[in-house]
Amino acid sequence: MRVSKAQNLGFCFGVKRTLQLAFEAAQNQKVYTIGPLINNPQEINRLQALGVIPIDNLAAVTPTVLLLPSHGVAPNKIIEAEGLGWRIINATCPLVQKAQNLAADAAASGADLVVFGDKNHPEIKGVIGRFLNDAKPVQKAFVVADAAEAEALGQLKKVVLLSQTTQIEKDFYIISRLLEHKVSDFTLHNTICKATSDRQQAALNLAKQVDVMLVIGGKSSANTQKLLKLCGSIGVPAFLVEHAVEILPEMLAGAEHIGITAGASTPDWIIKEVLEKMSEEQKVNLVEEEIVKEETNIVEEAAETANQEAAEFAAPEVPETSETEDGVNLMEEALADPYDIEIKQLHAGSRVTGVIVQVKPDELLIDIGAKSEGVLPSSEMIAEEAAHIIEKFHVGDEITVLVVRRENKEGYPMLSKKRIDQELIWDKLAEMRDNNVTIEGPVVDTVRGGVLVDVGIRGFVPAALAGNGYVEDLKEFVGKTLKMKILECDRGRHKMVLSAKAVLREEARAKRTETWANLAEGQTLKGVVRRLTNFGAFVDIGGVDGLLHVSEMAWYRVNRPSDILKEGDEIDVMVLGVDKESEKVSLGLKQLVVNPWSVAAEKYATDSIIEVKVMRTAGFGAFVEVEPGVEGLVHISQLAWERVAKTEDVVKPGDIIEVKVLSVDPETKRISLSRKATLESPTAQDMPEADEVDPA
Ligand code: F3S
Repeated sequence: MRVSKAQNLGFCFGVKRTLQLAFEAAQNQKVYTIGPLINNPQEINRLQALGVIPIDNLAAVTPTVLLLPSHGVAPNKIIEAEGLGWRIINATCPLVQKAQNLAADAAASGADLVVFGDKNHPEIKGVIGRFLNDAKPVQKAFVVADAAEAEALGQLKKVVLLSQTTQIEKDFYIISRLLEHKVSDFTLHNTICKATSDRQQAALNLAKQVDVMLVIGGKSSANTQKLLKLCGSIGVPAFLVEHAVEILPEMLAGAEHIGITAGASTPDWIIKEVLEKMSEEQKVNLVEEEIVKEETNIVEEAAETANQEAAEFAAPEVPETSETEDGVNLMEEALADPYDIEIKQLHAGSRVTGVIVQVKPDELLIDIGAKSEGVLPSSEMIAEEAAHIIEKFHVGDEITVLVVRRENKEGYPMLSKKRIDQELIWDKLAEMRDNNVTIEGPVVDTVRGGVLVDVGIRGFVPAALAGNGYVEDLKEFVGKTLKMKILECDRGRHKMVLSAKAVLREEARAKRTETWANLAEGQTLKGVVRRLTNFGAFVDIGGVDGLLHVSEMAWYRVNRPSDILKEGDEIDVMVLGVDKESEKVSLGLKQLVVNPWSVAAEKYATDSIIEVKVMRTAGFGAFVEVEPGVEGLVHISQLAWERVAKTEDVVKPGDIIEVKVLSVDPETKRISLSRKATLESPTAQDMPEADEVDPA
């Protein structure tokens, strides 16, 4: 016969925590609890011998210390106790507390509450009580034991669904799917605790491999009953026993492989008793060498499981009790024994997984299964988490931390999350470097020769690699988020060097390839003036610099490109020519506006009078600007009625004069103008002989 233990069984962290608080409180005085502290009659008896006494009627006992049980109580009980003068120690499991808080949130949101569970269980009474305490009279609370009861609920508009912490997860989701279709505004919170689901899964796994399952635990324990139900559900004979004497030979008859699991409130000493009883059973039925072998199996399995649990929760071993020991001896043993074992399991540098039991603005208290809760200060969290502790962490969440010190001066283990996270971050960053992945991070400070960025850890970006060009004041970068490549990632030397320039170059290359692929003559593109020369401007049209020649800038004569452009200007340009082989692009600016000569004939009708500006003078007349890009000539003979010896005698550059349009020829780009024709004609005898008009 072989005996195997489920991988997860027995005390959960919530029960351990409750018992620990009870043992501590009972050191100097009797402690009372509202009903049983946990759901295991044998352990309750043992606790009673230690001075932890369950009562139902608070008024019947002189108030001293009242411990709230792991499954919690309704708020009215607490109010009653406080009114009677009890000093309360809240030993409610943090996960039950979390469910109660969610019920209070549901009440505040105006929703109705549906809880999946047993309506007579104290945990459910506590959760419902918390809801009703805060809810308005129109809000309702329901407890459903199964899908049929959920189906039978009437029409509801807004519902929050919770679960008793010890329910079976599969059943919870069946109910949630059902309600989801019935309720328009539906929210669910899976409040089934991981310790429960782990034990259920482990029991199920084991049940599939054995001939008989023994489930050890209190008959009133909800999670023990669920284990029994689960094991039975796959057709394996399963028996619930509260302790060893309840194991009957007929339960094991014909079984070759027996599986053992235990509820979350079953102490180790009862499990051990059962294992010993199993060994004795084998002695009766098996030959000597078999017994030795099987005993060895059992002991090895027990030791292996104990090690696993120690690693997970640093689990205690509850002391064995003896009929002959008196209460004082029991107390000494209890105080000396079970939770000291856990402290011995902790050592600086070890990783432990625990559950958050309190969230403060600057630290977390974490149940790591040790004698005292561990302290995780904000300084031992990564910056992002330290800045948002309340939002990021919640009571009941599992968390893996590193033990920095077994005890601080107050006796609490000191923990760090940052060191674990940083190790993970180093791993992730090394992988990103190997895969040449781009990383983003804000610049948090400047140092000599560069800037510091936060990429989970602090990294250094040399000044020359912080941007594309030289930056005079690195402080400009502070607060900005850079995209970077990791150049060096050396965890041993704690060295992280990054380059933003590498990303900018990579982006430019990609952009350039894309631009070349799509470039075609006649396109109008947006560009940025990068560089001015005497003969034109180089314009970036997307990773490619095209030349905008000075002659293509305007329809009028541009002397210097800087007359109309400056570096950094964003302009629209037309692609005039593309030479992919020599990678040359010519651009035009003037093509994007109407050529003024194409409309000059319509715009400046013959005989119309217009204002023009004298641009320069010549022996034969004056050149005037009609509009930018359109120049005309006023022949010397058309300057005045009287004979003009020198053009400058009548007009000079810069003068604004009125002229009459004599003719417009867009083909040859000539406009002949007359100033004389706008002036009053002198009398005939004064009038000199007019020269013939000679348009330029
Ligand atoms: Fe708490 Fe889960 Fe145990 S709710 S008391 S940790 S079974």
